Amino acid sequence: MNRSSFIQQAIGLGPQWQARSGWFEQHPAELDRQAMQLAQQQSSQPPTTDTVAIPAPAAVTNVHMPTPAMVTSETAAPSTLDAALAAAGVTDHLEQPLSSPQPLVELGWDQLEQAVANCQNCQLCHTRTQTVFGRGNPRARWMLIGEAPGEQEDKQGQPFVGKAGQLLANMLAAAGLDREHDVYIANVLKCRPPGNRNPAPEEILACSTYLQQQIRHVQPTLILALGRFAVQTLLQTEQSIGKLRGQLHQYQGIPLIATYHPAYLLRNLPDKAKAWQDMVLAKQHFSRLSS
Ligand code: URA
Repeated sequence: MNRSSFIQQAIGLGPQWQARSGWFEQHPAELDRQAMQLAQQQSSQPPTTDTVAIPAPAAVTNVHMPTPAMVTSETAAPSTLDAALAAAGVTDHLEQPLSSPQPLVELGWDQLEQAVANCQNCQLCHTRTQTVFGRGNPRARWMLIGEAPGEQEDKQGQPFVGKAGQLLANMLAAAGLDREHDVYIANVLKCRPPGNRNPAPEEILACSTYLQQQIRHVQPTLILALGRFAVQTLLQTEQSIGKLRGQLHQYQGIPLIATYHPAYLLRNLPDKAKAWQDMVLAKQHFSRLSS
């Protein structure tokens, strides 16, 4: 795709994310969009038709990932637009590698996947075999968010395919959820940290726009955040899973349940019972939210 067609798509002349009809007209993201439209109509300024970033909700609690600023094709600083173009694989205008970690333009799903595949926002691009975007049904009502690809995930390009993934699949099946149809699974990081070390803060920051945009596309009814890095990143807290589990949180208005990471459960078998309680709690809230 060249620069001009990318911009055309990004400003709404091509495929673009839209809230679904029906129940999701009541989704917080859609309500925020409507509120913003109303505010624009009420202001004396003409509505910005070339807006390509979705604004942060007005009343946001517990937001941990950086929120993209409003970016328009007119107002985007060249570096911002360049970063987004490059992240989407539009390289016909750009000879230097990315220096900005944050592409701020809201991308369509396929463009987002392409941007992740081409990403050079942090050092992990030098050691990965491939990026791991996500897996499952992008229209699922459940979204599961893990930490980062491990060795097997890096090899296969899919999240949760190793032993932890098998445990996760078993837990989902026990809860009556099919991992390909009922859930969408993504990670905080899209690239494997070498040796499966913990994600570094700058890597989480560099990758944050991708997860943020994935969540906005999927618009899940409920997020199940798996493990410390997912939970702390989404809830912008340093509290432990032990303190955060057992209650309903919110990520940008989307209900979120915190639970242990499957890899942790493989090493700490007694906590499997607690993880199961978390799954039961998540199912109860999901039923309530869907009724
Ligand atoms: N652990 C994660 O958090 N994600 C994966 O994809 C695999 C293991």
